[in-house]
This record gives sequence, C-alpha cells and structure tokens, in this order.
Amino acid sequence: MEKHHPWILTLESTCDETAAAIIDGKLNVLGSCIASQTELHTRFKGVVPEIAARAHVERLLPVLQTTVSQAGLQLSDLDAIAVATTPGLANSLLVGLVAAKTLAIVLDRPLIAVNHLHAHIFACQFAEQGPSGRSVYPCVGMIVSGGHSHLFHYKNPLDCRLLGGTIDDAAGEAFDKVAAMLNLGFPGGPAVSKAAEKGNPLAHRFPRSFWNDPVIRFSFSGLKTAVRYAIAGPGSVDFSALNLSEQTVADVAASFEQAVVDVLVHKAIQATNQTGEKTLCLGGGVAANRRLREQLSTDCQKNDIRLIIAPPELCTDNAVMGAIALEHYRAGSFSSLDSDIQPGLVRQQPDL
Ligand code: KG4
Ligand code: ZN
Repeated sequence: MEKHHPWILTLESTCDETAAAIIDGKLNVLGSCIASQTELHTRFKGVVPEIAARAHVERLLPVLQTTVSQAGLQLSDLDAIAVATTPGLANSLLVGLVAAKTLAIVLDRPLIAVNHLHAHIFACQFAEQGPSGRSVYPCVGMIVSGGHSHLFHYKNPLDCRLLGGTIDDAAGEAFDKVAAMLNLGFPGGPAVSKAAEKGNPLAHRFPRSFWNDPVIRFSFSGLKTAVRYAIAGPGSVDFSALNLSEQTVADVAASFEQAVVDVLVHKAIQATNQTGEKTLCLGGGVAANRRLREQLSTDCQKNDIRLIIAPPELCTDNAVMGAIALEHYRAGSFSSLDSDIQPGLVRQQPDL
C-alpha cells in the first residue's frame, strides 16, 4: 500500500482498553492494536480505575511495539504523536499522556491532544467508503458509551457545540448495571442484547425520561431503578440469589433495551430537527447495539436524514478513531509538553 504523509501515532487509554494505531494522511490504517482488560474487571462487574491504570502501564509498550511493526515503520518515521486526554479515568489518561509526551520529546515530534468523544464521532468517517469517501461533517453526533450519552452539533471535526447529555448515568452504564442485576456478566451491553433476543419488549413499560422535554437531555438512573423494582422489589437484595427464570430475564432485558433505544432515537431525531442538520453520526460502545442501529436507521429514513454509524469494530474504544488528530495536524493545533489531562467533561449541559 502506498503510504501518504503525515504518519500519526495515536494512543488510547481513557478507560479499560489500551490501544495504539498509526494512520496516514489519507486515513489508511497502517497499524492498529488493542489490548482489552475485560477479563480483569469482570469479577467486579465494572471497571476498577486503579486496576485499569496499572494494566495500561503493563500493556502500553507491547501494544505500541506491535502497532509500529505492523505498519512496517520505525518510531523515527512518525510525524506526530497523538493521545486522548479527555474525558476518561484520570489515572488511565495519565498513562497515555506520559507515554505520548515521552515519545514526542525523544523523537522531537509535535504532541496532539485528542478529545475521546469527538474521536468516537470521527470513527464514522471510516464508514464512508474508505479514506476517499465523502465527509460526514457537518452533522449532529450522538456518542453513546459506557461513560457518556451526549449529542453535539459539529460544523467540522474540531468545531462543535454541545446540545445536551445525560444528567446521571450513561446508556452503556445502565446496560452494565442491568446486566449485573440480571446476572448476565460484564460488559453488560452485548449480554443484555443477546438475552433480549428471546424476550418481549412490551412485557414491562419502563420509563422514558424527558420524552416531551424540548431540551436535549437524558436520564437513565430512574430506568435502572425501575428494572430493579421489576425483578426484586424494594429493600436490600442479593441479585445473585434471585433465581429468575430465563424468560423473565429475557423479557426484562428486552423491555429495558427497548426503553433505552426509544429515548436515544427520539432525542437524536429531536436534535436534528432543532439544528436543521440532515446528517446524523452515531459512535461509542452502545452504537454496536443491533436494535439501536435498526430503529435509528428506520426513523432516519422516515425523516430524510443521512445516518452514518461507526463500523462495529470502531464503536467500542480503539485508537483508529484517534485519526481525528489528522485534523489537528492540518490545523496546526498542537499541545504543549506541559499540557495536562482533563478527566471530566467541562460541561454536562449547554447553557439553558
Ligand atoms: O465506548 P466504549 O467502549 O467505552 C467508553 O468509552 O465508555 O463503550 C463501552 C460500553 C459498555 O457500557 C458496554 O456495555 C456498551 O458500550 N456496549 C453495548 C453493546 N456493546 C457494548 N451496549 C449495548 N449493546 C451492545 N451491543
Ligand atoms: Zn469511549
């Protein structure tokens, strides 16, 4: 394959995947490697930040070496070093940033700080007939992951306005917690989705928060509580001892999944109506959900909206989506070597 400069190394360590990729100036992926930590967190039914950060320390160098050798390059061939520095788990972000700064200093190359959420939306560019495809921008971008459920209005990959987000849990987190209550394992999204295949989505009428609210916002914590009441009632409960029938688990999973999908689709369409934007991009781990993909696609067709969903392998955390760094590179938007991480989103809601 012909390689086009610049060659950018991207690092991803915002949560529990350690990943690196090398992307060229035409969005060709020259090398890519992901080390997942799922097995370390499964028994805790969620990501343990301390364990995640230590695992990044162990795994980052082997992941980097694999990526560079896959690309058939030397580190000295790279033109810039990019790393996701916001949002994410503080100590996990620090591991990636320190590694990226070290490479930038030693190789004397520019450092590029990437926003992980905007990278999730940039992943949609890889769904558009490869590197020479049409731009997905301007667009409304919906990021649905373990940590975030947010809608942004993008003029271009680096210029956007927050339309709104969740006021409590993210959609993916709700999937993970419901999976834990139903004893379906971790990560919860794929497990709940699989259980839901044999269930009745109308079995339980779970809440759809902020449905008629003109403001774009989500809330999933009430939905989680509703699931808990449906299977266990009030009071303290040992979920592992509930002994629910397979059909009950399937029905709860299907009704829960339907409630999440309904609100995500409804608010995404509301966001396109409010902004007048005719392109909708979907990224983040929950974008791998089949029901969400299907329902969004049907509703977008009805509303004459061009829907672009990140390729399945680029929905969950990866470093290829860090290719948004190319936009920074072309704009000359580099970070100083004393720049810091920013674990939280600066604002949860736009000014209301
Ligand atoms: O984007 P991601 O890999 O990490 C974060 O940045 O949070 O998203 C992980 C989340 C988890 O909560 C997982 O349960 C959810 O994405 N997820 C899914 C599916 N696959 C992953 N949720 C619903 N359906 C799926 N098929
Ligand atoms: Zn993510």
